[in-house]
Amino acid sequence: MKRNRQQESGDKAPKRNIKHSTSNIRGRTSSIQHPTSIIQHSSHPRVALITGITGQDGAYLAEFLLNRGYVVHGIKRRSSLFNTQRVDHLYVDIHEGHPRFFMHYGDLTDATNLIRIIQETQPDEIYNLAAQSHVQVSFETPEYTANADALGTLRLLEALRILNMTKKVKFYQASTSELFGKAREVPQKETTPFYPRSPYGAAKLYAYWIVVNYREAYGIHASNGILFNHESPIRGETFVTRKITRAAARIKLGLQKKLYLGNLNAKRDWGHARDFVEAMWLMLQQKEPDDYVIATGEQHSVREFVDAAFKEIGIGLEWKGSGVKERGIVKSLTQNSKRKTQRRSLDVIQHSFEKGDVLVKVDPRYFRPTEVETLLGDASKARKKLGWKAKVKFRDLVKDMVREDLVEAERDHLCRTEGFRVMKFHE
Ligand code: NAP
Ligand code: GDD
Repeated sequence: MKRNRQQESGDKAPKRNIKHSTSNIRGRTSSIQHPTSIIQHSSHPRVALITGITGQDGAYLAEFLLNRGYVVHGIKRRSSLFNTQRVDHLYVDIHEGHPRFFMHYGDLTDATNLIRIIQETQPDEIYNLAAQSHVQVSFETPEYTANADALGTLRLLEALRILNMTKKVKFYQASTSELFGKAREVPQKETTPFYPRSPYGAAKLYAYWIVVNYREAYGIHASNGILFNHESPIRGETFVTRKITRAAARIKLGLQKKLYLGNLNAKRDWGHARDFVEAMWLMLQQKEPDDYVIATGEQHSVREFVDAAFKEIGIGLEWKGSGVKERGIVKSLTQNSKRKTQRRSLDVIQHSFEKGDVLVKVDPRYFRPTEVETLLGDASKARKKLGWKAKVKFRDLVKDMVREDLVEAERDHLCRTEGFRVMKFHE
C-alpha cells in the first residue's frame, strides 16, 4: 500500500525538510507582514519542541521559529484523515535541502510517549500549545479536556524532572484569558483574580498554577502566556470569528444561505495570531521566567465582528429584534462587493439575496451553560518587559480572514460548477 507522507514522518525523524520561507501560511493574498523576515542560521541551531503543531498557533510559531534558524520538532496526534494542512507548506523534498522540521506522533494524555519524544529531541525550548481548545466542546467533554489541558501540562513538566532537564529547557504554557472568565476588573492584567467559567477554563487554571509551582519548586524557566483571543485565516472553523468570515464569503458566492450564531453580545479582545506567537518566543528569551498578559487592548462584540465581515463583502447589515429573535438584515449592497473575487468569471455572479433579506439569525444551541460575557486585556507589562505590542488592527484582521475565505469559497464554487463534490462541514 502506498504510504502517505505524514505517515512516513511518524516515530522516526521524517525525511522532509523546511523551505527557508518567510511566506504567509495562507498568504497568497495576505498583506500582513511577517514580523521576522530575517532568517538567522547557525551551526548549532536552537531546538524547539511544539505540542499542538497542527493547530493555528502551532503553525504560525513553527514558521516563526524556522525563520529564526531553529530546528523545530512538533507533536501531532494520529488521525484517520490528514491533519497537517496548516504546516504542509513547511515540508519540502529531502533532496532540496537539510531537514529542520520534524513531526512525531504523540498525545498529551500519554506520558511515556512525551518522555520519549523529549529525550529524543533534546529541546532547548518547549512550547505547550496542545489542548482541547474549544470552550463549548469542553462542556461536552469535560473529563477529556481536563486530562489533555490540565494533566497534559503536568505530564510535560514531570517529564523534564524525570529526564533531569529542569535546568536545560525553557517552557512556555499556553494560558488563556478564559482564566479571567467572569472578569473581576476591567481591563484584565496579570494581577486580576481568576474566575473560570467552563471546564476548559478550569483545566487551564490547573495548568497555569502547576507551571507556577514547578517554576518555584524546581527552578524551571517556565512562563505562562495569558493570551487573549487571537485569530487568523487558519483559525479553526468553529470558533466564532472564522465561522463568521467563512459564512460571509460563502453567502456572497451563493454557497450558504444564512449564518446562525449564539450570543451576539459577547465581547472579546481579538488580535492576530501571527503577532501573538512572537510574544510566546519573547517570553522564553527573557533571563527570568514570568507570566504575561498578551492582548490588543481593544474590544468588539460578536455583532460588531459580523458587521465588519459583511462590510468586507459589500453588505451593510441592520439588526432588528432582540434575544433569540434578533436578526441581521441586508440594509445596503455596495458595488465594490462585485470586485472582490479573484476570478473575473465570479464577478458576474448574481447575488441570491437582496435588501431586506435575513442573513444572520440566533440559534440558542450555541449558547453556553455559563458564558464569558466580556474580555479586555491590558498588556502593558508585556510592552514594558518584552517590548511586545499588537500590530494588526481589528479591521485588518477581519479583512485578512474574509479575503482568504473568499478564495476558499471561490474554489468550492468552481468545483461545484464543474460538477465536483464540495464538503458541507457541519458543526
Ligand atoms: P487549536 O487550533 O485548537 O490547536 C490545538 C492543537 O492541540 C491542535 O494541534 C490539536 O491537534 C492539538 N491537540 C489537541 N488535543 C491534543 C492532545 N490530547 N494531544 C496532543 N495534541 C492535542 O488551538 P490554537 O488556537 O492554536 O491555540 C493554541 C493553544 O493556545 C491552546 O492550548 C489554546 O487553548 C491556547 N489559547 C488559544 C487562544 C486563541 O485565541 N487561539 C487564546 C488563549 C489560549 P489536532 O489538530 O489533531 O486537533
Ligand atoms: N464558537 C462560537 N460559535 N461562539 C459563538 C457563537 C457561535 O456560533 N455565537 C456566539 N459566540 C460567542 C461565544 O459564546 C463566546 O462568547 C464568543 O463568541 C467567542 O467564542 P469562541 O470564538 O468560541 O472563542 P472563546 O472566547 O470561547 O475561546 C477562544 O478564546 C480563548 C481565549 O479567551 C478559544 O480560542 C480558547 O481556546 C481561548 O483560550
